[in-house]
Amino acid sequence: MNAIPDADRRFSDQWLMLRESADHLARDSQLTHAADRWLSARATPTRPLVTQRTIVDLGCGSGSNLRYLAPRLHGTQHWRLIDHDASLLARARLRCEGLRSADARPVHLETCEMDLDTAIRRGLEGTDLVTASALFDLLSPGWVEALASRCQAQGCAALFALSIDGEIHFHDTTGTAVENDDDRFAFAALAAHQRRDKGQGPALGSQAPNHLRQSFYRHGYRVREATTPWRLGPESLPLAEALLAGWHRALHEQVPEQRERVDRWHGARLDAVMRGRLTLTVGHRDLFAIPGGASA
Ligand SMILES: C[S@@+](CC[C@H](N)C(=O)[O-])C[C@H]1O[C@@H](n2cnc3c(N)ncnc32)[C@H](O)[C@@H]1O
Repeated sequence: MNAIPDADRRFSDQWLMLRESADHLARDSQLTHAADRWLSARATPTRPLVTQRTIVDLGCGSGSNLRYLAPRLHGTQHWRLIDHDASLLARARLRCEGLRSADARPVHLETCEMDLDTAIRRGLEGTDLVTASALFDLLSPGWVEALASRCQAQGCAALFALSIDGEIHFHDTTGTAVENDDDRFAFAALAAHQRRDKGQGPALGSQAPNHLRQSFYRHGYRVREATTPWRLGPESLPLAEALLAGWHRALHEQVPEQRERVDRWHGARLDAVMRGRLTLTVGHRDLFAIPGGASA
């Protein structure tokens, strides 16, 4: 199960399924409602009869974002699912066939095996809303800038969920944050690992929310954001365990000379989480952006 992507940015379906309920619980419902309202008001004097909304899901994986959003949005929906992993796309289609909108309209699916660079050039035609979840830490500032520019040209809105913001904390049973030197060392090395080049130059890592906000703002968008952390307690132990295992592997890659310190930190924190002595909070942000003028 890869909680941390391969060098070529691939993830296991097992990991994506394991995180899905925590993702859906964390997401900000107000921003989803705002996207729904914006789409409902999208019919314009030049397109009065257009009732179907075209929604593009970038880096869709096995369809978690679609499963969250489609039943919360009104009207007939055409979803274009974009990912470079054909096996995840096949699973997305299998698991999302038959979904209905909030008002029981059809949800049509189109799957595109495509790299995200190509998606910016050729994947956004006719889009009303571009969306993504748990994606942007992998990408570069230049790619986000190109996306904002393409969205502006298209005049579509953007809803991006669950971009990591680097706010990782352990809490004890009284809710007090707990952090020692080994945590600070591990989180700093993890942040450096997240910024490693993943094919487009240095990746955004936990700077993704800031870059998204600034890029869309620069392109004339009105932007709203919400913090959407995972709060992993006793009911989320398999997810916490898999996440800590992913971090363990990443830390071995990032600071191989500190193997003993990494193993000690991982062993101690995993033990405390599994025994219910600590909970783990992992920060994310959601963002909703609409093109110039209108209010988000
Ligand atoms: C962390 S997963 C998130 C999947 C899904 N959005 C979710 O929330 O479950 C990131 C997804 O982006 C896809 N991805 C990463 N880099 C990509 C690229 N350059 N081109 C196309 N897809 C990419 C991966 O295959 C993976 O499905």
